[in-house]
Amino acid sequence: MTLPELTDYVSRQFARTYGRPPRWIAAAPGRVNVIGEHTDYNDGFVLPMAIERYAVMAADHSVGGKDSISIRDTSEGVEPATIDLSGPVKPGKPKWSNYPRGVIAGFLARGINPGGLEVLLHSTVPLGGGLSSSAALEVCTATLLEAVTGKKLDPVEKALLCQQAEHEFAGVPCGIMDQFISVMGRENHLLLLDCRSRQTDLVPMNDPSVALLIVNTNVKHELGSGEYAKRRAQCETAAKILGVPSLRDADPDALESAKNKMDNAVYRRARHVIGEIERTVHAAEGVRASNWPTVGQLMYASHASLRDDYEVSCAELDAVVEIAEGIGIKGGVYGCRMTGGGFGGCCVALVKADTVEAVSKKISSDYKAKTGIDATIFSSRPAAGATVIKG
Ligand code: GLA
Repeated sequence: MTLPELTDYVSRQFARTYGRPPRWIAAAPGRVNVIGEHTDYNDGFVLPMAIERYAVMAADHSVGGKDSISIRDTSEGVEPATIDLSGPVKPGKPKWSNYPRGVIAGFLARGINPGGLEVLLHSTVPLGGGLSSSAALEVCTATLLEAVTGKKLDPVEKALLCQQAEHEFAGVPCGIMDQFISVMGRENHLLLLDCRSRQTDLVPMNDPSVALLIVNTNVKHELGSGEYAKRRAQCETAAKILGVPSLRDADPDALESAKNKMDNAVYRRARHVIGEIERTVHAAEGVRASNWPTVGQLMYASHASLRDDYEVSCAELDAVVEIAEGIGIKGGVYGCRMTGGGFGGCCVALVKADTVEAVSKKISSDYKAKTGIDATIFSSRPAAGATVIKG
């Protein structure tokens, strides 16, 4: 569904659920990271884009002066959430409500109180697919609260507030990429984000001859979040041994000289991060120059490094990349890599636009033959960041 279609749908569903039309509607996109993986918490560069998949919230004041925010989901079987505003907002149940809870707590901490609300949530960002469904939900909540209260936050502060919600309410020590792109995405652009200075640079991506395919392996291996925190800690250890504030400041020669001062796993984690930061900057130049073969090669190199040095890939992600490599440029694929935190979720492939259908078919049938699993494949243009659609 396009965003206007989605808005229409959510508006009608809100009226069916609550018996009146919504007063506000807000939306925030998921994202796909083209390159720059596990670099954000190392002060490095990332190059994501917002995708045409959104968390959408429709809302109105609650009836009868209730001092709580009720959120229902359009999907059947999702437990509704009630967030009491009469005391401090804390993590609670259901689990998914911790994303909006964390954001509401962030607004209250800034003295911004939206008052009682009835909210209907609908999301087209696949859950647990590495496309930042949680960041979309956080940023959507923040955008809705801005609309309701008329208090617009500075975009950087808004993204950081959402990141804090994820740290403190969902217990995931994520970097800043997902929330930044969901807030700051721009149609037909990738976002080159310097995660140290937080400076953003929009990189046009509107060459009609290429498309980005998102291939969901439809697997999610549970070890994900524990391993994420471990990787972060290993990067900090490497930076300490190298005597630099973060791996952004380390160079490959210094790492080689210090190789025997560190555990082999720590060494390989650092090698990935240092290489990936460089690849990301080069890839941004490649996109600017429409040099797709180079961008594609950098994507493959990124994947190999994530698989071998960072060890966050899995058999299913590797299978997709191998199939893509087999198709090759002749068959329409410039490059392919896992995207997001890893351990399942999605791959992103850069393909010739006129081969989208053939490439999707081939990946889908070969992936099924290799793994027995049905992949979900779609393409997306770079989308705009969060918006207030009504109100
Ligand atoms: C997750 C985190 C991001 C980033 C990626 C890996 O998506 O939320 O901050 O660290 O993993 O690049």
